[in-house]
Amino acid sequence: MEEDKIRRIGVLTSGGDAPGMNAAVRAVARTALTYGIECIGIRRGWQGLINTDFVPLTRASVGHLLSRGGTILYTARSKEFMTEAGREKAVNTCKVLGLDGIVAIGGDGTFRGALELSRLGVPVVGVPATIDNDVGCTNYTIGFDSACNTAIECIDKIRDTMQSHERCSVVEVMGRSAGFLALYVGTAVGATAVLVPEYKEDFETNVIERIRASRLAGYTHFMVVVAEGAGNAYDVGNKIHEALGISPTITVIGHIQRGGTPTGRDRETATRMGYYAVRALAEGRANTIIGTQEGSIVEIPIEEALKMEKHLQMDRYKIMEIMQFGNDHHSEFLT
Ligand code: F6P
Repeated sequence: MEEDKIRRIGVLTSGGDAPGMNAAVRAVARTALTYGIECIGIRRGWQGLINTDFVPLTRASVGHLLSRGGTILYTARSKEFMTEAGREKAVNTCKVLGLDGIVAIGGDGTFRGALELSRLGVPVVGVPATIDNDVGCTNYTIGFDSACNTAIECIDKIRDTMQSHERCSVVEVMGRSAGFLALYVGTAVGATAVLVPEYKEDFETNVIERIRASRLAGYTHFMVVVAEGAGNAYDVGNKIHEALGISPTITVIGHIQRGGTPTGRDRETATRMGYYAVRALAEGRANTIIGTQEGSIVEIPIEEALKMEKHLQMDRYKIMEIMQFGNDHHSEFLT
């Protein structure tokens, strides 16, 4: 069985970066080296595998990474890797560098690439990292906590000035087509209304009536959090102006949410996921994604993982509303 031993693996980060990706790279490299496996960093995601763009990693070269945002390996969304010819080049790079496996750190797009590569005979293990938390097979993706905390910090600051001037604010957060980030942030900042793509009440009920109820309850400043997948903050602001005659300030938090030092949760989760990814390869298991389910680490076959769906938990939405409006909207939820 000696010839089956994994001798060298590659690690890459792909898609939108997320705080904690570096911590995952460090964990992959140090775990591999502990197993006696060489670790090669592939730069610029799947494109780097096509271009043979690499950097050997040592225990020392991945030092001081836990607190660093972004990714030292750079990242990309490779169009060429979506083509058969591109993937063939990537397989050749694996042969040239003698890579017996790849750890791919990213989101769903990264894992679709991983599935294609695994079908060409390259063993791959995925580690979920995206601020959107929208990967179906795992409760949690690296970067989500850091992005939420960054958005919360921004909104707390916006609220200070909104309160002083008794104004309304509309803040757009990222999340692609999912509302996880918006709902978590909206709950944590005590938003007057939160717009998420998964929950489509009409605008009058969801926003206008809530601002009115807030005003009637004595509040003079209002915070509306919009998931980018639920609409554009400027449109939301215009509609509020039309209905209520007030002029909200608009803030699109944007890429600030993707940067910055990762939180403890992201560093710790990235370290554990990186460790388990290498352990799977070292023990001869591959073509899986590492996930967390009910607090435990799980390995799910990529094909199955890509079919899994994760839904926004509506009880969380209701709890957020109860904090603002008591049980007017959700008496059924309190019985
Ligand atoms: O997937 C992470 C993410 O930040 C999304 O929240 C957002 O929709 C997208 O990436 C933005 O991508 P880009 O940086 O290419 O504009």
